[in-house]
Amino acid sequence: MSAPKRPAPRAGVLDIDAYVPGRSEAPGAAKVFKLSSNETPLGPSPKAVAAYRAQADQLSFYPDGASTELRQAIGRAYGLDPGRIVCGAGSDELLALLAHTYLEPGDEAIFTRHGFLMYRNVTLSSGGKPVEVAEKNLTADVDAILAAVTPRTRIVFIANPNNPTGTYVPFSAVRRLHAALPPNVLLVIDAAYAEYVRRNDYEAGIELVATSDNAVMLRTFSKIYGLAALRLGWMYAPADVVGAINRARGPFNVNAPAQAAGIAALSDTAHVEHAVAHNAQWLPWLTEEITKLGLEVTPSVANFVLIHFPKQPGKTAKDADAFLMKRGLVFRQVGAYKLPNALRMTVGTEEANRLAITALKEFVNGAARG
Ligand SMILES: Cc1ncc(COP(=O)(O)O)c(C=O)c1O
Repeated sequence: MSAPKRPAPRAGVLDIDAYVPGRSEAPGAAKVFKLSSNETPLGPSPKAVAAYRAQADQLSFYPDGASTELRQAIGRAYGLDPGRIVCGAGSDELLALLAHTYLEPGDEAIFTRHGFLMYRNVTLSSGGKPVEVAEKNLTADVDAILAAVTPRTRIVFIANPNNPTGTYVPFSAVRRLHAALPPNVLLVIDAAYAEYVRRNDYEAGIELVATSDNAVMLRTFSKIYGLAALRLGWMYAPADVVGAINRARGPFNVNAPAQAAGIAALSDTAHVEHAVAHNAQWLPWLTEEITKLGLEVTPSVANFVLIHFPKQPGKTAKDADAFLMKRGLVFRQVGAYKLPNALRMTVGTEEANRLAITALKEFVNGAARG
């Protein structure tokens, strides 16, 4: 066998469809409303911004590699042992670290058909085999996940609630899933949108993680805390997992301004409550108004809605996207999530939400005439 003529990435890497972030521009529009990345319309806490700025004259120093004060602040806010927390540069980094640490080449990682795209990507980049399972009503199906478990399964990824569908799995079902998994399979509960959920049968996973050796919960500062630009996420995990990930991660993976802003953001509970109340007002409003237009909306518990469009030319999701874009309304196309006939819209400011409904109304009526 002749030696390769150039460096070759490991098997699987070139099978990755690089993640395409939500667009932020609408060429020609006077004012742009970015509703494509599930960012909060309220911005971060002013306290977080001040803490971030205060770091400006400290930039020559390495950050605390253990994110000690941030982990303590998270521990206080959520009633957790800081020793069981690992912080990361976004939950994306933690997802990648988990895959790289727990998958050998050829090992299988299970996720659901419309699950968050990074599960496939981090599995492939680790040399693992992605195993995609069917959903029911655009919702993760615990029985389908369990039916896909084989002796090669090492990780099950589940977003609860899921992006881009906005659907969730009641915690009794997550418990049933966990109870039926072999003990060497890691259950990764990605609760990026947990703060928005207002359902009695929902839990983010804290108690399950506290009492098991093979479940972790991921959280992020990118959504309700409004700190997406700083890349800050965290994981609550069993001690063994914490030990492994702390060995595998970069020594200074979370930068100092992010740590400082995260601590301040946690202290501003009024800001978070405001964001929860804003979403609780506008999520049902958008769902109702869009449904009234004759478009189907998947019931969401998060800070976005998935809107389904007809397949007829002139009325499709792509047509709607182009129409909205001209008005400065940037939604997310979700073809990469196997939902080519849908668009995802983040709950925005009152102004953005009202404009979106007006524009969708125009689109539906105009498209109906055409
Ligand atoms: C379900 C889910 N998990 C994780 C992430 C990544 O978040 P972060 O910004 O913390 O990397 C996102 C971001 O869109 C998400 O929707």
